[in-house]
Amino acid sequence: MKILVTGGAGYIGSVTAAELIAAGHQVIVLDNLYQGHAAAVPPEAVFIHADLADKAALARLFAEHPGIDGIMHFASYTLVGESMEKPLLYLRDNLVNAANLLEAAVAAGVRRFILSSTANLFDEPERMPIEPDNKIVPGSPYGESKFFIERMLHWFERIYGLRYASLRYFNACGDTPERGEDHDPETHIIPLILQVALGQRPHFTVFGDDYPTPDGTCIRDYVHVVDLASAHILAMEALDRIGSRKYNLGNGSGFSVMEVVEMCRKVTGHPIPHVIGPRRPGDPAILIASSESIRRELGWQPRYPDLESIVRSAWEWHRSRPQGYGER
Ligand SMILES: NC(=O)c1ccc[n+]([C@@H]2O[C@H](COP(=O)([O-])OP(=O)(O)OC[C@H]3O[C@@H](n4cnc5c(N)ncnc54)[C@H](O)[C@@H]3O)[C@@H](O)[C@H]2O)c1
Repeated sequence: MKILVTGGAGYIGSVTAAELIAAGHQVIVLDNLYQGHAAAVPPEAVFIHADLADKAALARLFAEHPGIDGIMHFASYTLVGESMEKPLLYLRDNLVNAANLLEAAVAAGVRRFILSSTANLFDEPERMPIEPDNKIVPGSPYGESKFFIERMLHWFERIYGLRYASLRYFNACGDTPERGEDHDPETHIIPLILQVALGQRPHFTVFGDDYPTPDGTCIRDYVHVVDLASAHILAMEALDRIGSRKYNLGNGSGFSVMEVVEMCRKVTGHPIPHVIGPRRPGDPAILIASSESIRRELGWQPRYPDLESIVRSAWEWHRSRPQGYGER
């Protein structure tokens, strides 16, 4: 298939673009390099440096690359905390950018669409692990923007017949030897801890140790970026057969912040000093995904279900590229 990957110079998008190429698909990457890195784009992909806000650039893209079979939409503002300070980046820009993309896509006859959605839809879990049909209660303008895009997709399916899958990732993590996590600012737990092991930070700050969990720190479900990529490819290949779907993606088991710190100590051999800070507003105590439906319907099987292999893959990448892609 010929697949357009928006945000394909970013963390999850670039790994997915590389996995798509390895699986024999043709890839076009669109990215404005706001957070992404040109060096992360697989050399076999066509790279278009453009912003989703630029409708003329989108029209050009679809005119110059006819016959796109599907879109994987990773490009987004992505930070929960930032969305609580600058809500319109999320409630306006994420939505307008998605609408621009959808408008150009249906005009060009594209029939398949995969959305990067999020566990931030589930601020009030009814049961643990969280099923895809759990009540949607976005935890921030970021989560709300993903929910609105899911609703746009609902109407685009009804009106234009666009098939879609919304993949709600829990904590994306891990790296491949070629591509890894390099955000500025970095907000994700494993790279932050590994920066301490690399001597780039004096200590790691744990946001609260008084949650109702066994060690008092928050419990999250960590899912390897390569396993997210395989879920995208399975979903894209199956959309015609299964129809539109919403799947939660995680490993179905949770690890506390302190368990992640301990695993990073074991893998790196570094003492990794930590301090306890205040809770972060809006952090639920426990978030664990039920991925049962994607396993059952698409045969999704994570290759890196255990925390140790996730952290090892991240340490390999961060140790070999301590400055990330080195473009900043
Ligand atoms: N990282 C996680 O744990 C996680 C969890 C749940 C959902 N997600 C979602 O997955 C997707 C990818 O996340 P990531 O961690 O790889 O983020 P990322 O920031 O590394 O990648 C996003 C990419 O999109 C590009 N981009 C942003 N706005 C753009 C625009 N207007 N036009 C063109 N390109 C634009 C950025 O330059 C970047 O390369 C996002 O939609 C995010 O919300 C991520």
